[in-house]
Amino acid sequence: MKIGTYYYPEQWPREQWQRDFDNIAAMGLRIVHMAEFAWFTMEPKPGEFHFDWLDECVELAKQRSLDVILCTPTAAPPIWLSQEHPDTLPMDRNGQRERFGGRRHYSPTSPAMHSATTRIVTAMAKHFGNQQSVIGWQIDNEYSGYFDQSEHTHAAFRQWLKRKYETIDVLNRAWGCQFWNTYYTSFDQVMMPPDRNLYYDNPHHKLDASRFWSWAYANFNKLQADILREYVGERFITTNFMPFHLDANPADMLDALSLFAWDSYPVSGAGKAHADETYRLADPAAISIIHDQMASYTGRWALLEVQPGQVNWSGVPVLLYPGAVRLWLWTAYAHGAEFITTYRYRQPRFGTELFHHGLTTHDGVTLSAGGREFVQVIDEMKMLGVTAPRGATAASAQTSAQRTAPTVPSATTPAAVVKSRTKHVASLPLVGLVFDFDQLWYFHTLPQAKRWSQPRWMVMWYAAAARLGLEVKIIRPGTPIPRELPIVIAPGVQMVDDTLVQQWDEYAHAGGNLLLTCRTGLMDRTGQAWEGPHAKPIVPLIGATIEAYDGLPDDTWAEVEMDGVKHEWNVWGDLLYAEPTTKVLAKYSNQFYAGAVAATRNRRGKGTVTYCGVYAENTFVDAMLEKLARDASVPINVLPPRVHLLKHGPHRILLNYQDKPITAPAPKGTKFLVGSATVEPAGVAVWEDA
Ligand code: GAL
Repeated sequence: MKIGTYYYPEQWPREQWQRDFDNIAAMGLRIVHMAEFAWFTMEPKPGEFHFDWLDECVELAKQRSLDVILCTPTAAPPIWLSQEHPDTLPMDRNGQRERFGGRRHYSPTSPAMHSATTRIVTAMAKHFGNQQSVIGWQIDNEYSGYFDQSEHTHAAFRQWLKRKYETIDVLNRAWGCQFWNTYYTSFDQVMMPPDRNLYYDNPHHKLDASRFWSWAYANFNKLQADILREYVGERFITTNFMPFHLDANPADMLDALSLFAWDSYPVSGAGKAHADETYRLADPAAISIIHDQMASYTGRWALLEVQPGQVNWSGVPVLLYPGAVRLWLWTAYAHGAEFITTYRYRQPRFGTELFHHGLTTHDGVTLSAGGREFVQVIDEMKMLGVTAPRGATAASAQTSAQRTAPTVPSATTPAAVVKSRTKHVASLPLVGLVFDFDQLWYFHTLPQAKRWSQPRWMVMWYAAAARLGLEVKIIRPGTPIPRELPIVIAPGVQMVDDTLVQQWDEYAHAGGNLLLTCRTGLMDRTGQAWEGPHAKPIVPLIGATIEAYDGLPDDTWAEVEMDGVKHEWNVWGDLLYAEPTTKVLAKYSNQFYAGAVAATRNRRGKGTVTYCGVYAENTFVDAMLEKLARDASVPINVLPPRVHLLKHGPHRILLNYQDKPITAPAPKGTKFLVGSATVEPAGVAVWEDA
């Protein structure tokens, strides 16, 4: 696996480029991203292209055997475009156009933006498409933006709706326009809403607006991908997604991207205070679920950005726990990343990200703490033979001499024997986790319980699987459920369709163990409730009915009891009636409904369907999954909290996200390739099974 970095040559004096490339190579980095945001430098006037500077940098990279990922610069349109075509700028709900002066100041549906994009991307693709050292292309940067109110966006939304519904009557029914008599008589009357929050307007309309907006970015992305594909041959095409970000459903870009990637900034000081220092390390499940989500699209995935130190944007510049960056790199490797790159090589001396750490500090040559951890991982991976060796003459970049005067690797460094893609072979038992992006939109628009966080709910189940030493396979709607998965979890899949429910049922009938949770199967894909009992389509599967539900105020906790152990819950509780043949797993143990059923298990064909009616805290979710795994005789290996154990290629990789040392669950006499039997806080241990 290769490790690399973003580098922005246009932000630094030309006379420093050679030195910077020397140092990048000396660190053992193997990939450099360039040109992201550099539209103006490449095209200072419409149609006038200046690629000489980038040619020089691609050459500097090539001389040092560095691979290059070129980025299309569309996230930062130049002043001339904003000025000549103000309609490229998004318009807010008050009809005010955004101003030039930052980034992401474009509307993805603007025709003028499309034609300017076509021009710059075509020019870049023609110029660099055949460059040997360019291994792939990144389109744009972190697709996101508020719902544009320009006329071209309203028009594009209407076209999208026409394609979907064909007649206005069908739209009226899908959006429940009987409610308050909000009927439309023509598509031309429909407006793109200014956001996806619900006031007194129509939730089905907002759901479709979210779907459309993601389509609009996907359409803009495809415009670029189609141009690139003509010139770049087999090189990968990707973009960088943000975790659980609502503006872009990665699945919408399946026809354009060959590799899926995301940006990981897990320690930003957001969230509540912690008693210990694990907030300096992040939650391993929240990181890992996105790694596995990215892997679920084409099988090729990468981490494009990973936080190398403190960030500038959160207002809480938490100092990372020593080892955190190293731990994140090993985590991505363990999940099968094709490569990892970081934002960014040099800490900027100007601009909004002045306080954003890089691999080097403000002097441009001294490695930051994160930079040193990168070097450590590169060396460790080299030792394991899973990454390319560093430049022949490069010594450890951690010595002070090295920091100020790095050695220059020779341009003729023998080509490395690079095993850049060790196949990700998970021989640990897998748990399937249904990740249906559509649900995120509707939970946002129509939350019902303000404490319900669908991302958190999914992460809790992920963490429960990881705690048992089980690897997770993300299952997206429309993709088959492999029969060999012993357990499949579908958390909070509110909107379902016949195909999905049938797929679940067939999986259970064939011997699988399906776990459904509260707020599953409540609606169809338009977001309308069934005419019938609550969660009608899943009632036969779960062998129970949902008689009532409860959500508690912020500071109120209730209890649910399973196997003699009481657990706290607060967000959501379904009160169930279980059919006589259905097994009761858990009951509420206080409130006026003490004794009501909270979780059940039903036999279905050769398999089972477990229904967890409570959105409780981790201890309950952990206990519920452990019980299912034990009952289903799935081999488990109960790990300490916040500790993940994965298998990648021949390696077992143990990741300690605790701020305390732990003992690696390795057989006696294990020879550790990285670390040792006592794994330090934020530590990593790697060994091979005997
Ligand atoms: C990312 C973005 C980068 C940089 C970084 C700062 O979201 O893609 O360009 O701004 O945040 O943390």
